[in-house]
Amino acid sequence: MKNSLMLTALASTVSAKGWGPYHPPAYSNNSLSFDATIRVNAEQRYQTMIGGGCSGAFGAACTTNTLSAADQDTVVRTLFDENIGALSILRNLIGSSPGTTILPTCPATPAGPFNYTFPAANNDSCQLTLAQNALKYNPDLYLYADAWSAPGCFKTTGREAGGGFICGVRRSNCTYDWREAYANYLIEYVRLYQQRGIKVSLLGAYNEPDFNPVTYSAMLSDGYQAYDFLSIFYPMVKKAFPSLAVSCCDSTGARQQRDLLYELGRLGGKTLFDVNTYHNYQSDVKRPFDDLLAGQPTLETEWSDGGNTWTRTWDVSGNNFEGFQWAIYMHNAFRNNVAGWSHWWCSWTSPTDASLVQVNGTSYQVSARLWAFAGYFRFARPGAVRLFTDSSVEEVYVTAWQNKNGTIAIPVINAAHYTYTLDVQLSATNVSIATAYLTDNDHNVTQAGQFTFEGGRFTAQIEPRAMKTFFLEEAAAY
Ligand SMILES: *[C@@H]1O[C@H](CO)[C@@H](O)[C@H](O)[C@H]1NC(C)=O
Ligand SMILES: *[C@@H]1O[C@H](CO)[C@@H](O)[C@H](O)[C@H]1NC(C)=O
Ligand SMILES: *[C@@H]1O[C@H](CO)[C@@H](O)[C@H](O)[C@H]1NC(C)=O
Ligand SMILES: *[C@@H]1O[C@H](CO)[C@@H](O)[C@H](O)[C@H]1NC(C)=O
Ligand SMILES: *[C@@H]1O[C@H](CO)[C@@H](O)[C@H](O)[C@H]1NC(C)=O
Ligand SMILES: *[C@@H]1O[C@H](CO)[C@@H](O)[C@H](O)[C@H]1NC(C)=O
Ligand SMILES: *[C@@H]1O[C@H](CO)[C@@H](O)[C@H](O)[C@H]1NC(C)=O
Ligand SMILES: *[C@@H]1O[C@H](CO)[C@@H](O)[C@H](O)[C@H]1NC(C)=O
Repeated sequence: MKNSLMLTALASTVSAKGWGPYHPPAYSNNSLSFDATIRVNAEQRYQTMIGGGCSGAFGAACTTNTLSAADQDTVVRTLFDENIGALSILRNLIGSSPGTTILPTCPATPAGPFNYTFPAANNDSCQLTLAQNALKYNPDLYLYADAWSAPGCFKTTGREAGGGFICGVRRSNCTYDWREAYANYLIEYVRLYQQRGIKVSLLGAYNEPDFNPVTYSAMLSDGYQAYDFLSIFYPMVKKAFPSLAVSCCDSTGARQQRDLLYELGRLGGKTLFDVNTYHNYQSDVKRPFDDLLAGQPTLETEWSDGGNTWTRTWDVSGNNFEGFQWAIYMHNAFRNNVAGWSHWWCSWTSPTDASLVQVNGTSYQVSARLWAFAGYFRFARPGAVRLFTDSSVEEVYVTAWQNKNGTIAIPVINAAHYTYTLDVQLSATNVSIATAYLTDNDHNVTQAGQFTFEGGRFTAQIEPRAMKTFFLEEAAAY
């Protein structure tokens, strides 16, 4: 805004000097075409998809309780059904505040006794119920149990909120070393869910360890301190649950996470976790993390606005929490080898962009951000492998994914305000049937045509400011 006012001021100065009125050139689009060539090579392969998700932390899982039973069910179905929102990750908070913790009474020393109890209030603040309901629609749910802090009595500050370190790591100053107790406590949360028939896939000891919010559950750690804890935690997890994966470390941004991983790596700690987890708040991913990893996948595990708006539209204002923008954020992450993308809350009551669904008493709304998720995760299912792709034009974005059964999903995003004609060229695959699914201001991942093609090449159009996913299959053999 400021800039355009300055330009106007400059223009009037110029004409005051007597150069006469400005005559714009006659616009010509004779030489403009809106054709893009997209290449896909199924022999050049990258990361394996984990999926998309959201969280029911801090009571968010209870926010649908004011809806009718039928609507409560529809919200969970909308998020997790493979044919609707197609999410597959649910991130639980391992509560550390009074009333939400599995360890209501702290022993005086790490010798115990530890009296663990499932948090009875609303079944772990409705997180158990949400997990049970999500499993109805996605039996392969990837549950990520993550702690924001250790119990206060395990920490340098004696408080679960507002920073502090786990006792026993470098730069801590405690009488006792509580690291093993913290490891057991985290494993116990997994066991309490297992006893209720729910499998946890990923376990985390940290949330934003580079950031002290002062007011709520938080614990700090740099990469050196993470080494001091993970070197005890990782083998204990593997002993208790060999197939349970360990995350590190949910930093506030990709750059913050890179610093932490670099420090961890300096001590030889690159193999003390299974999934590299970061948030997208304070910096986004500019290049793959691969140089700091020992081959582990990367997940973006939390992001939202945090501002006081509710954006449900696809592409009306151009603000960064419209669905269209989220399609491009995810595109960028995937091109940098990120294997999945989680929103912050699944649902919430205040009208902010912190959630995918906004609940207001007995009614609810779904943000078009969910349709950006669905444009990827409905077609590139967990286990799909990203393939080499490129696009001949900057404003047409493309990734491609091959599912375990050979089907190929090509989510394409057109940032132009014009229709593009795509010339799609595939190699090292025999697919020949395409179905297109369109998302724009008027369509929510709506089937928009099916056709057959030969020789690994087809032509199709993509609407302005749209995401279109082409789902490709081989013709059935007769
Ligand atoms: C440029 O393209 C627009 C939209 O297709 C068309 O309406 C217009 O006539 C074209 N202008 C010229 C100068 O060709
Ligand atoms: C353990 O905690 C439960 C629930 O908080 C309580 O009922 C029980 O008495 C406690 N057991 C011991 C041995 O403290
Ligand atoms: C907790 O969930 C169980 C089912 O797992 C249900 O029977 C029980 O009523 C729930 N309790 C509360 C307090 O919501
Ligand atoms: C230990 O360190 C924490 C965090 O730096 C500090 O808040 C606390 O006062 C210290 N405690 C002691 C006993 O020095
Ligand atoms: C919630 O619903 C009430 C009653 O229908 C309405 O007056 C209010 O504006 C709604 N609030 C939001 C944030 O949408
Ligand atoms: C698309 O989803 C939005 C909610 O994001 C809803 O308001 C709208 O009615 C849906 N449109 C279609 C065509 O299904
Ligand atoms: C292949 O897998 C995809 C993704 O899971 C699924 O949507 C599709 O129906 C499967 N196709 C066949 C022919 O099994
Ligand atoms: C494609 O089909 C040909 C002929 O049946 C076969 O030899 C080739 O292995 C197939 N390629 C792929 C990538 O499936």
